Amino acid sequence: MPDNLPRRQVLRTAGALGLGAAAAGALQTGADAVGTPDKVAAMDAQRGHGRLDIRKDPFGTTPDGQAVDVYTFTNGRVTISMLTWGATIQRVDTPDRRGHTKNISLGFDNLPDYAALSPYFGATVGRYGNRIAKGKFSIDGHAYQIPINNGENALHGGTIGFDKRVWKAKVVQSSSAVGVAFTYVSPDGEMGFPGELTSKVTYTLDKHDNLRIDYHATVTGKPTIQNLTNHVYFNLAGEGSGSIDGHILQLNAPKFTPVDAGLIPTGELTPVAGTPFDFNQPTAIGARLRDDHPQLVIGRGYDHNFVLGKAGADGMRFAARFWEPAAGRTVTVHTSQPGAQFYSGNFLDGTFQGIGNRAYRQGDAFAFETQHFPDSPNQPNFPSTVLRPGEVFTSTTVYTFGTK
Ligand code: BGC
Repeated sequence: MPDNLPRRQVLRTAGALGLGAAAAGALQTGADAVGTPDKVAAMDAQRGHGRLDIRKDPFGTTPDGQAVDVYTFTNGRVTISMLTWGATIQRVDTPDRRGHTKNISLGFDNLPDYAALSPYFGATVGRYGNRIAKGKFSIDGHAYQIPINNGENALHGGTIGFDKRVWKAKVVQSSSAVGVAFTYVSPDGEMGFPGELTSKVTYTLDKHDNLRIDYHATVTGKPTIQNLTNHVYFNLAGEGSGSIDGHILQLNAPKFTPVDAGLIPTGELTPVAGTPFDFNQPTAIGARLRDDHPQLVIGRGYDHNFVLGKAGADGMRFAARFWEPAAGRTVTVHTSQPGAQFYSGNFLDGTFQGIGNRAYRQGDAFAFETQHFPDSPNQPNFPSTVLRPGEVFTSTTVYTFGTK
């Protein structure tokens, strides 16, 4: 078990999955999953790459008695597990360039750890992802207060955000993709936010190893603010395998939004040229991480929103590509969102272990949260995050898994 995948997890997913031998093969992480490069194509054929399948299993029960399920969907090559708790990506199993499959997403194998310990591992974050200064904002002259949960600011929707709610789930399956549509209705006043917000977030995996996330939100009663994102943490060498310093990042962003000591944007859009924030050419994440740039000192590394390059005619833009040179895995991100928080796992501190029973230490993973800019409700120069009754918010982010 090079992946440290608990044996019972293998049995539950591969054995009980009922995906058939071909697709289940993609779930295995043992020596039989390794092949020389020239055997990989044959192995893909054997595994049935392109065969879409999904199953549902019980995952746990919340203290107030709500059942939480895990949905596991595969295309025979990439396999994703998602929880109804927080519409959370629990596992992402992908092959490396030799065909050796590992889980590359940080997470836990049990619900109590998600509830007690998780720094938003894989979660769908809302109602407002990222920070709101002092938890305060106004819409049309009405002042609102969100619970403070990060220094003197509100982070990721307050003390009980969408990551800690049980979402309704519906399987979506077509001839080209499979996945789950998650829905959560947040009542008027929940966490201090105005208006009843219905969020529908659909995660689908296609035959070309694209995990597509479609966000859809509407509000009734009062205008509100929203900033939905996903907070998956990746280590492309496998979760729990150590530092991501050696991952190579290309980030399509001419500017970033510098922050104050509380990680609230100052309001400036600062060019990245000539700074450690310039990843327009592929560069190792660790190459400048320890530089004395004041913004890196404040963030203890990268914990900043990047202003992404212009979108194409379809509204989508290339945002970033991450590459781990040793195993060769890549993840490429396209999004319709104007920004992305690149977070180099600075606050992981080794105090708990994840799904593979390995401690997660500082810099052992990265998150790339596509989003509107932090604190937009208080920043007149940033694109608006206000959603009014009758309007429909949509956005799309696609993670493409590959090897190089
Ligand atoms: C924030 C970090 C925070 C992390 C986990 C990121 O989105 O920017 O500061 O530590 O989420 O909560």
